[in-house]
Parts: sequence; C-alpha cells; structure tokens
Amino acid sequence: MATLNFTYLPGDGIGPEVGAAALEVVAAVAEKFGHDLSVEEHLIGGAAIDAGLKPLPDATFESCQRTGAILLGAVGGPKWDHLKGAERPELGSLLPLRKRLDLYANIRPCRPFAALIDRAPLRPERLEGVDFVVMRELTGGIYFGDKGRDNLGAYDECRYSEAEVRRIAIKAFDLAKTRRGKVTSVDKSNVLETSRLWREVVEDVAKDYPEVELQHLLVDAMAMHMLTRAQDFDVILTENMFGDILTDEASVLCGSMGVIPSASVSGGTTGMYEPIHGSAPDIAGQGKANPIAMILSAAWMLRLSLGLEAEAAAIEGGVEAAIAGGHVTGDLGGTLSTSEVGCWVADHVR
Ligand code: IPM
Ligand code: MG
Repeated sequence: MATLNFTYLPGDGIGPEVGAAALEVVAAVAEKFGHDLSVEEHLIGGAAIDAGLKPLPDATFESCQRTGAILLGAVGGPKWDHLKGAERPELGSLLPLRKRLDLYANIRPCRPFAALIDRAPLRPERLEGVDFVVMRELTGGIYFGDKGRDNLGAYDECRYSEAEVRRIAIKAFDLAKTRRGKVTSVDKSNVLETSRLWREVVEDVAKDYPEVELQHLLVDAMAMHMLTRAQDFDVILTENMFGDILTDEASVLCGSMGVIPSASVSGGTTGMYEPIHGSAPDIAGQGKANPIAMILSAAWMLRLSLGLEAEAAAIEGGVEAAIAGGHVTGDLGGTLSTSEVGCWVADHVR
C-alpha cells in the first residue's frame, strides 16, 4: 500500500473540468489498489491572479517541489491577455515552474487509437501503424531568451548551450533504444546558429549509440513529412518551439487535441504531467471538454513519478475501453460530458 501524494494544479479554462475527471479516476485507482490519496490542490496561472496572488504563488511552488509529482490542467486565456511579460499566466507560472524544477525533457506520444483513425482528417492508410514520441527540449531556446522592446521594435533571443542540447539528446537516444531504435532530430540548421550547434552535439551523442539510427530533418520538411509518412518516425528530437508546434500538428493524427498527454521530466522522479491541449476558454464550463489527455497524464504521473506501473496500466486500459466503446465526448463523436467520461473510466478501473 502506498500514499498517492501529488500536487494538483487545475489552472484555467477547461483545466478544472478535465482535472476533476482525472481525479475521479485516480480516486478509483486508489480504491482498487488499496492506496491512500493525498492530493495537494493549489492555484496557478489566471486563477491565482484572480485570487490576488502571483501567477505562481509560493505555496504552489513549494508543494510542487516537495511532492515532485504534479498534475496540471492548463493555464492562460483571453481574460489575462492584457497583462505583460511575467505577469501573464504562461510566462509567469508555467514557464518558471518548468525552469525552476529543471523539467527539461518533455515527452509527447503520438499513437492514434484504432477506433479514432476514421475521425482524423488524413486517410486511414496514412495513420495505421503510426507510433512516435516527440522529445521536446523544454527549458531553453527562444522561450527563455532575453525578450523585450526597444526603439527598433521587439526581440526574442534564442540561445542553447552545448550542455542543454546534450542532455535532451541523451534522453532521446535512451528512449529510442527501448523502442524501434530511430532518432529523427529536427532543426533549422540551414538558417539558425543554435540549430547548427544542435546538429553537431546530436551527432556527437549519437556516437555512443551505434545501435540507434540517426536522421536529421529541417523543421519545415518535418511539418510535411509528419502528414505524408508519419509511420517512419520513432523518436523525434527537437528544440522547445519547434516541439511546441509539431506536437499540435501530431495531435491531428490522433483524431483530437484531447487525447495526448505529456510528461515533463529531468533526471530523477520529479515530473509534471499535463495534456498537450490548452485551456480552451471557448468551451470552458460547458462540460464538453475531452478529459482523456488529462486522465492519461495522471496515468503517466503514477508510472513515472510514483513508480506504480499496474495502476497506470489500469487507467490506460480504461481509456482504451472508453474509446473503443464510444464512451467519449463530442469531439470524438460521442455524447458523454467531461465528468461522465471520467466516471466511465473510473468505473472501468474499479
Ligand atoms: C504547450 C503550451 C505551452 C507551450 C504554452 C501554454 C506556454 O502550448 O505546453 O504546448 O508553448 O509550451
Ligand atoms: Mg503547445
């Protein structure tokens, strides 16, 4: 018996709705496997700002650091768009949280569920057998460079150190060794100096992995190849902003933004788990949001930060069954509400 102790950050928009559904499922897991549940819920992003706090309140950060297992809904929305720089939910909470916990490796899977292949806008033969993972560098690059305005306009600096590239490349090669043994490194080395360094360092890391095949692709070409030959990819290694863009594209292959979880990790067991989708303010509060990405993120948290493999697999089995049986929200062609999907998966787990 274990205690499932983690920090829960519902955040903004649909975050609290998909979060509640995921908590329902985690509670079912605790019940079924005889664990205690200790959920530390805290404010973050716009919700914290609205409560008169900083976007990343000290109590929130302290809990994240202490539990080392963080389940996050989403942050941001048009309501806070008038704010500038670090006053904004994204720049003031999500990015510093990733940076301060050194969660430099963001893992985003793309493996379309069989029952959803017909829902994707691509032809089924382009989707069958697709199974890749994007390893996105998360704490460097243009997101974290010096930014500002001057009399000439505005600027965002993009920097990468050799060490930053090396450690994410090692993560990608280590992962490829446990999969089909292929790394596709994505950069823009025909234009960017950071990409030239990226390529050099990735080549150097590859020398330690003779069993892994390495290819390089320019990011614009990758955007096309992901739609025309997605089956060829295994581990896609890329920098922060390219990874952000390519993973939204990858979600199209999976039939919905609402089904892809992510893990942000570093060396040890500390990790933050969040859906790749945003706060979707246009549908917030209507019970329409698909909670599957959030439920799968909770499964990854149990597996990677709490070391509970069977519990994670039980959740994934429930999600698989929900999708196969059509117990899903409208974006996947179903009629269930957010909380009904959570209850369905929780019942399946029990
Ligand atoms: C994501 C999101 C974030 C990012 C935003 C909310 C800052 O789009 O996790 O993909 O760009 O990293
Ligand atoms: Mg994104």
